[in-house]
Amino acid sequence: MKRSDKEIEYLLKSIDVSDRKFFIISPDFKILTVNRYTSEQHNHDVIGKLCHETFYECSSPCKGCPAVGVVETFMPALREKQYDKKSFKWESCQFSYPIIEDKKIGALVLLDFERPGSMAVEEELKRSNAFFRNLISSSIDGVIATNMKGKILIFNDAAAEISGISVREALSGMDIRSIYPDDVARGIMEKLRSEDYGGKGKLKSYRMDVTRDDGKTIPILLNAALVYEGEREVASIGFFHDMSEELKMKSDLEKTHVQLLQAEKMSALGKLSAGVAHQLNNPLGGITLFAKLLLEEYDLEEAAQDDLKRILLDAERCRDTVKELLEFARQTSHIIQPHNINKAILRTLFLLENQSLFQNVKIIKDLSEDLPDVPVDMQQMNHVFMNIILNAAQAMEGHGTLNITTGIVDNQDKAFIKISDTGPGIPEDVLPQIFDPFFTTKDEGQGTGLGLSMVYGIIQDHKGNISVKSTVGEGTTFNIELPLKYKNHEGENSGEQY
Ligand SMILES: Nc1ncnc2c1ncn2[C@@H]1O[C@H](COP(=O)(O)OP(=O)(O)OP(=O)(O)O)[C@@H](O)[C@H]1O
Ligand SMILES: [Mg+2]
Repeated sequence: MKRSDKEIEYLLKSIDVSDRKFFIISPDFKILTVNRYTSEQHNHDVIGKLCHETFYECSSPCKGCPAVGVVETFMPALREKQYDKKSFKWESCQFSYPIIEDKKIGALVLLDFERPGSMAVEEELKRSNAFFRNLISSSIDGVIATNMKGKILIFNDAAAEISGISVREALSGMDIRSIYPDDVARGIMEKLRSEDYGGKGKLKSYRMDVTRDDGKTIPILLNAALVYEGEREVASIGFFHDMSEELKMKSDLEKTHVQLLQAEKMSALGKLSAGVAHQLNNPLGGITLFAKLLLEEYDLEEAAQDDLKRILLDAERCRDTVKELLEFARQTSHIIQPHNINKAILRTLFLLENQSLFQNVKIIKDLSEDLPDVPVDMQQMNHVFMNIILNAAQAMEGHGTLNITTGIVDNQDKAFIKISDTGPGIPEDVLPQIFDPFFTTKDEGQGTGLGLSMVYGIIQDHKGNISVKSTVGEGTTFNIELPLKYKNHEGENSGEQY
């Protein structure tokens, strides 16, 4: 075949315009000619030099070089795209074919090229797909995508956690309607197609519940979108945010807030009653004084004298109540001093006995006369007895028997106070929680749940201990033990006795 000069010129040009390496070597790997791009890459004379030394810095033909195969087989050979670990770069594919002359290989053509459709793009795509897969699977929110028939296409770990369905199960052709009922699925699609929930194709912050197979209901905040190809709906994707923790935190916070308000109210009430008691002291003093004067200085009829005596008696009772109330609510810094525990119990009972809650409660007191004074902060002890006795009366709903016993523990170094009631008892699962702050079984507004936690703290401060035994249907007994010798926090005896 004879070619015109023009043809030859075009053929050469077509090779020279390529921006890929194109070169021809001898069967012993010497460079015979190169295209313009190759010569520009190596700005020195390359003709006659060994190709592996010149182009690839190898002392012998490169590993995997397609030309080596061509020399052996006479057949064209391809080396797939390679990653060069030295340069951290992808090297393009290399293709080599022989130029046969007299049944021998006269020369070999070598060229670099990128695959049509581009390997680089494919790799990039693979990598970005892997990145997105990672992104979706590590999302804290459940991500579920479905096609328009409802078949699940994407389902991450968080979705598995929320739904209780494994990723494998979900991705094995499961329908989204197995996770939430048909009407919910339909409702979501309707909202997605409407303009009213964040724009067409979008659904923002939609509250729904997912009921798992194990019966657990999970509150969900759903953000969803329709995926379009042109105008056509092809898929839907939903981001499911589990609200359980947030809702629990919110309700705990609200509860704590209410309880704190209640505690504040109680403390304010305590202060108020102490204030009122104080105010009553002076007029009560006046009533007593003048009633006595009337009795002593006037020669009154017997009936009038009896009336005056009655006035005096009642005024004295009022004064006693005021005194106990003041003692009870006294705001003092914590001072641990020897006190008569029996007296403290009697004072609490004195304040409570006439309350309607105690009208039908039989109170049995078995207070040891031999009980020595116990080192306590009296005001705190008042709180302890008041809380436990009130709890007992509340549990018995005003009907039953309250037993209070005091004494010395067998080995003599502790006083004990036992307070028992014949109430309904405390169920086993509730028992471990009764000393927790804010734990209450009472209706909202009825109890703060702080009573026993305060009691526990106070007894701890006194280096004592408190335990509870309860039998449902029979009653509850609280047992407090207080050391007769007070030890400070370092465990040393502080002072001579206390
Ligand atoms: N004697 C008892 N019999 C049965 N249950 C009791 C008794 N004492 C305490 N409890 C249980 O322990 C819970 C916690 O008691 P605690 O005194 O700490 O709070 P509260 O009485 O509910 O509220 P508050 O003391 O603030 O009025 C109570 O709600 C109740 O369920
Ligand atoms: Mg209480």
